[in-house]
Amino acid sequence: MQTVQTIDELKHILEANKNKTIGLVPTMGYLHEGHQALLNRARKENDFVVATIFVNPAQFGPNEDLDRYPRDIERDLKIATEAGVDLIFNPTPEEMYPFESGITIQVGELSTKLCGESRPGHFDGVLKVITKLFNLVQPTKAYFGQKDAQQLAIIETFVHAYNFPVQIVRVQTVREGDGLAKSSRNVFLSEVERAEAIHLHKALTLATEHWKQTNNVDEAIAIGKAHIEENTAGKIDYFEVVTYPLLQQVSEQASQLLFATAVFFEKARLIDNILVDVK
Ligand code: PAJ
Repeated sequence: MQTVQTIDELKHILEANKNKTIGLVPTMGYLHEGHQALLNRARKENDFVVATIFVNPAQFGPNEDLDRYPRDIERDLKIATEAGVDLIFNPTPEEMYPFESGITIQVGELSTKLCGESRPGHFDGVLKVITKLFNLVQPTKAYFGQKDAQQLAIIETFVHAYNFPVQIVRVQTVREGDGLAKSSRNVFLSEVERAEAIHLHKALTLATEHWKQTNNVDEAIAIGKAHIEENTAGKIDYFEVVTYPLLQQVSEQASQLLFATAVFFEKARLIDNILVDVK
């Protein structure tokens, strides 16, 4: 596996592999089994696998956890090597953003829902880095986790609307044995919070089950919220049911519904979701 930090080196290596299919896995590092699932899938489906490790300042708000976002590049390189990654791109912020162009990408409507409300500008920052990575790597396929369902929906819509020549591959959420979705931010949980955190998935499961039996979205939301309130000390940011991937109010035409929640704990804001097919 090769590791590069500059765009010139990245281009040089890609040039030498230009007739191959390229799988791209963008990450912010501190890799866990969720990321590994993306890497494994990319390894199976492409001749050449590029993973990026870049804690993207553009997607963090002024009061968010950019400075204390967990990092361990040595461990990440080991995991990536084991997953059969061919090339790691690990640029500095200066390499990625050498000058301020003044031109921005704005997500608009899709970023006003769910996580967008408490993280203004977050998804604009995600598209800023993703656009650069797509242009630099020009992947055949790019891999994203269902864990960040709103991010995935926005990237899919962006690629579709602006004809990016890349296929977006959705990868299912990887969970701990007790149901907690794997996340780099789980290390911020205290022991008590870690035990409570399983209730995000439990609440989402209870809500989806109630909805399947009754078709009643409002009751499903109330059940989910009550479960989190009764079983955790966390503060609910949102617990919502929306259509997927447009993230609109539930309607008769929807073919998939997203049950999604975000909960603030002392040092981490956790998100989770369940996507259900509407029969
Ligand atoms: P990061 O949080 O590092 O996640 C990188 C990718 O791994 C994302 O596509 C995310 O959805 C996926 N992922 C994380 N946890 C997962 C889990 N438990 N199961 C399955 N997939 C999981 O998401 C980002 O970084 C950034 O916003 C990025 C897309 C890299 C842009 O900076």
